[in-house]
Amino acid sequence: NGVITIDPGYKNTGSCESAITFLDGEKGILRYRGYSIEELAEKADFLEVAFALIFGELPTKEQLEKFHKDIKSNSVVDDDIKKIVDAFPKSAHPMGILSSLTSALTAFNPSSVNVDSEEDMYNAIVKIMGKFPVLVAWTMRKKQGLPLNYGSKSLGYVENIMKMMFEQPNEDYEIDTVVKDALDKLLILHADHEQNCSTSTVRIAGSSHAGLFASLSAGISALWGPLHGGANQAVLEMLEAIKEDGGDTKKYMAKAKDKNDPFRLMGFGHRVYKNFDPRAKIIKVAADEVLNNLGIQDPILAIAKDLEQEALNDPYFVERKLYPNVDFYSGIIYRAMGIPVEMFTVMFALGRLPGWIAQWKEMRLNHEPIGRPRQIYIGENLRPFKSIENR
Ligand code: CMC
Repeated sequence: NGVITIDPGYKNTGSCESAITFLDGEKGILRYRGYSIEELAEKADFLEVAFALIFGELPTKEQLEKFHKDIKSNSVVDDDIKKIVDAFPKSAHPMGILSSLTSALTAFNPSSVNVDSEEDMYNAIVKIMGKFPVLVAWTMRKKQGLPLNYGSKSLGYVENIMKMMFEQPNEDYEIDTVVKDALDKLLILHADHEQNCSTSTVRIAGSSHAGLFASLSAGISALWGPLHGGANQAVLEMLEAIKEDGGDTKKYMAKAKDKNDPFRLMGFGHRVYKNFDPRAKIIKVAADEVLNNLGIQDPILAIAKDLEQEALNDPYFVERKLYPNVDFYSGIIYRAMGIPVEMFTVMFALGRLPGWIAQWKEMRLNHEPIGRPRQIYIGENLRPFKSIENR
C-alpha cells in the first residue's frame, strides 16, 4: 500500500518462512528440524546434524556414508589457492583470509548451480562441505607458519578437520577423543540459528542469484563483527584483560553498566534470547569437562564464572534480560584445544556452514524474490547543482 514502516535492526520484521530452526527466546528453546539442541549435542555428530539441517531429515546409515564419501572426494582445493594463502601477510585476520578464500573458490569452480536440479544442488553442497575445512585449516596454518596440508580419507569429518588443523610436521597426529567430542559438540551448537545477521546476509546475497560460495563469503564477513560471531574472540580478550588488570570483575561490571563507557560485557545479551541461551548452558558444562579431562587449570574460567554470577544477580542485567550467550564459554574451550584466539570466529564459521547452506538452499528452492528493503528518505530536497568554484 506504499506505507513504509522503519524497523532498524529488523527487530520486529520477519524476512521469510523457514522450516529449518525453531527458536523461542523467551523460554530458551532451540531446535534444528524439530530436534532439541540438547539431544543433538548429546547424541548426534556434526555431520549428521549438517545433513539434517541441509536435507530436512536425519540421515540413514547409508545416506550418511554416501554424504561423507562424496564430501571426501571433494576435499581437495586447487593448488593455486595455496598461492593466494601464501600472498596474505601473516598479520591478516583469519576471518578476512577465510572470506577471501571462500570467494576465490568461485574462480576455480565457475559452473553455476541450476537450483532446480537436485544433482547440481547436491554437488555444490558436497563441494563446499569438502573444501571449507581445508580453507579453515590452511587459514590457521598460515597464521602459525605451518606447511599447508591435506586430511586423510580414512578419518571422520571432524577428526579430519582436527588432523588438518593440528598436525605438526614430522609427527604422527593422534586424535584426542576428549577434544574431538568437545569440537563435535561446539560445531553442532553453532550449526544454525535462524535469521541472524550472517544468515540473513547469506540469504539476501543469494537472493540476487549470486552463487553459493559468493553468498557464503558475504556471510563470513557479517559473522566477523564483535557483536556477532566475533564476540567469541572479544570475550577471551576481555577475560584476559580482566586477569591482567588484577581480576577485578566488579570494576568491569561497573564499566559495562556505565552508559558513558562504550565497554560491553562481551558474551552477554542476545537479540532473541531473553532467557539463558540454551547453547551457553551446554557449553559451560563442556568447558568444565574439557579442562578437567585435559588437566588444564585456566584462571580465566574462574573469572568467567565470577562475572556470570555477578551479572545474573545484578539489577542492570536482570532488568534487561541479559544472559550469557553461546560465545561466553566457547573461547575457553577453543583455547584449551590449542586454537589461537584470532581463529575463534573461524571456528564459529566452520560450525555455521551447514546452517548457511541450508538457509541458502531453502531460499532458492522457495524461489524467494530479491531482498530489497525500502527506506524513508530524510535528505535534501531538490536543489540546483553548484559548480566546483562556488562550493
Ligand atoms: N553489556 C552491557 N549492556 C548491554 C549488553 C552487554 N553485553 N548487551 C546489551 N546491553 C544493554 C544495552 O546497552 C541496552 O541498554 P539500554 O536499554 O539501557 O539502552 C539494552 O541492554 C539492550 O541492548 P541492545 O543493544 O539494544 O540489544 P540488541 O538486541 O540490539 O543487541 C547484542 C544484542 C547481542 C548485539 C548485545 O547484547 C551485545 O552487544 N552483546 C555483546 C556482544 C555479544 O556477546 N554478541 C554475541 C551474540 S550471540 C552470538 C551470535 O549469535 O552472534
